[in-house]
Amino acid sequence: MGLADRRRNMYFGVCYYPEHWPEERWETDAWMMREAGINIVRIGEFAWSRMERYEGSFDFSWLDRIIGILAKEGIQVILGTPTATPPKWLMDQHPDLYMRDMYGDVRGYGNRRHYCYNNEAYLPYISTIVGKMAERYGNDPRVVAWQIDNEFGCNDTTRCYCDQCRTQFQLWLKDKYQDIDHLNACWGTVFWSQIYNEWEQIIVPAYTVFPLHNPGLVLDYRRFASDAVCKFQKFQTDLIRKYAPHSTITHNMMGAFNEIDAFDLSAELDIVSWDNYPNLMFTKEVDPALAAMQHDMTRGLKGQNFWVMEHQSGQPGGNIMFPTPKPQELRRWTYQSIAHGADGILYFRWRGCLFGAEQYWHGILAHDGKAGRKYREVQQVGTELARIWPLLEGTKNEDQVAMIRSYDNEWVFEIQPHIMDYTYMGHFTNYYHYLFEQQLGTDVISPDADFSKYRMLIMPNFIMTNEEIVAKVYKFVHDGGTLVLDYRAGAKDWHNRMEALTLPGKFAELLGITVEEYGVLGKEEYRAIRMDGSETIYRGGTWFDVIEMRGAEAVATFTDDYFAGCPAVTSHVYGLGKAYYIGTEMDKELREEVLHLICRDAGLVQTLDVEVPEGVEIVTRKQGDQAYMFVINHRIEAAQVQLHSRFFDLLSEQELHEETKLEGNGVMILSQNK
Ligand code: GLA
Repeated sequence: MGLADRRRNMYFGVCYYPEHWPEERWETDAWMMREAGINIVRIGEFAWSRMERYEGSFDFSWLDRIIGILAKEGIQVILGTPTATPPKWLMDQHPDLYMRDMYGDVRGYGNRRHYCYNNEAYLPYISTIVGKMAERYGNDPRVVAWQIDNEFGCNDTTRCYCDQCRTQFQLWLKDKYQDIDHLNACWGTVFWSQIYNEWEQIIVPAYTVFPLHNPGLVLDYRRFASDAVCKFQKFQTDLIRKYAPHSTITHNMMGAFNEIDAFDLSAELDIVSWDNYPNLMFTKEVDPALAAMQHDMTRGLKGQNFWVMEHQSGQPGGNIMFPTPKPQELRRWTYQSIAHGADGILYFRWRGCLFGAEQYWHGILAHDGKAGRKYREVQQVGTELARIWPLLEGTKNEDQVAMIRSYDNEWVFEIQPHIMDYTYMGHFTNYYHYLFEQQLGTDVISPDADFSKYRMLIMPNFIMTNEEIVAKVYKFVHDGGTLVLDYRAGAKDWHNRMEALTLPGKFAELLGITVEEYGVLGKEEYRAIRMDGSETIYRGGTWFDVIEMRGAEAVATFTDDYFAGCPAVTSHVYGLGKAYYIGTEMDKELREEVLHLICRDAGLVQTLDVEVPEGVEIVTRKQGDQAYMFVINHRIEAAQVQLHSRFFDLLSEQELHEETKLEGNGVMILSQNK
């Protein structure tokens, strides 16, 4: 029985580009992979010109050979459709396929993703290449899954401003609004005399005399652009399913990127995956919460476990290079991914390429192809996982807290940030950080998800809202949930127009407050705040609301400026639950105090049998009564871990109790039974 059969749905693998290497090397690579415990390899996603060098002249024999070689070593394949790299012969036939930027300039050949999603001239070519691949490999047991295209939206490639996009946008709007005057009303085109008489008059929000378009238009353009990618993806999933109805289809998404509404993109997929590069920056310390948050975002897309399709294994680099993963970092990142719900890990990439735009992008093997430190680390993980994967199969993160990620609201803040450099995601991350530090497992869900299984919901910057969401939120609190809303909540309708309601608009009754005035605070500008019953002075920045109580109670109060004495944070009992409102960007200390209070009140106090110092993360995967607690030391120094009951560590295969030392970068997976 091959490894792949034994591990069924749990995968450990690499991204491999056989077309970059002489065929004589393939067997060595496959053998080395197997020796490292690898049971899955992703191939093919950029190899169109090797499969169809000239139009209509196909060569899949090399793919047959590599799939065969990998299979001999017990390694299965995820096959990528190569549509991120339409070949030069195709582009030369259809120069109108190139994207156009907002200045009308062509974004030309030489990189990848150089096509417009809305250009229908591309579709017959895709039908042919993807259809042929699906026909050939769709029912091949060695090919366990398909990846559609590659990282949709990467390198700012969602919004195109070409003529086809404009036409498609007009059709999309017609379908949405039906009546042009309905559109005029929803966007408020009477402003600056922008009333449209015909659908054909409608523009795309390209370059103009000053970068201030109608907010309704810009938001709809983002929604349209996101929908266009989903439609483009569906064209391919339909093709594959036509030949192979039982295929598993995925796409490698990008965590916190917001070009595409990933909830929509996931709807067509069987399993979601994402590309995890924890250290793509030069920061003093890599923030482990950011990878954790993006894992949680990915898991929330379908409410299911996921794969990490590209997992950083070497130092990244385009024209410049980023930090080299230190010993055991790769292993720690891998277990963090698994802890948060990854059922498949594929490292990017197997070996540093000798040529091409990513010759500085490093992988497991260096350019010389020899087994080095990173290979041995991968081999260590592979050996461990061969033992552990079967135990983890079927286990999940069961969280009581959810954060709502709304792409629509994120786009609204990107279109009009309110204050220089302000980002929805930065604000979102502040809350996540708190939950991460408290070891409170968190789901990141869509506003359309089922809220009922959560005890607490955080809805950051929920500026736009609609009747359905409002009704769900009221019901959630009424039935006993704890809700956190904050500044700007309820200010706009779903068309990105201001509500003619006293703030917080439709949430006012739920929150028991009205917001009489508000304002922005500049960079480094703060207002003093005191928690009720405490003398400590905290700070609020970015924004202030001047709140009037209409049944709520103050949790924290401003102590300076003309709104001194007005609450900055409020709580309101509604039905069986409680709704909190936060009218400023709290500093870290205030955030901790306020969220401690909210979590305590919601009964979310952690009673873990394990105590760890700062910098050590605890995440639990469960199935029924069986729990596996991942204890991950994100620090370079060793950590003292206190165990209040007896545990078995799956990694060291030792019984542990009382005080235990966890090395820097070290990981334990604790279970109550052996
Ligand atoms: C992305 C892409 C890969 C590769 C890596 C490294 O994640 O999906 O094809 O380009 O980045 O740049």
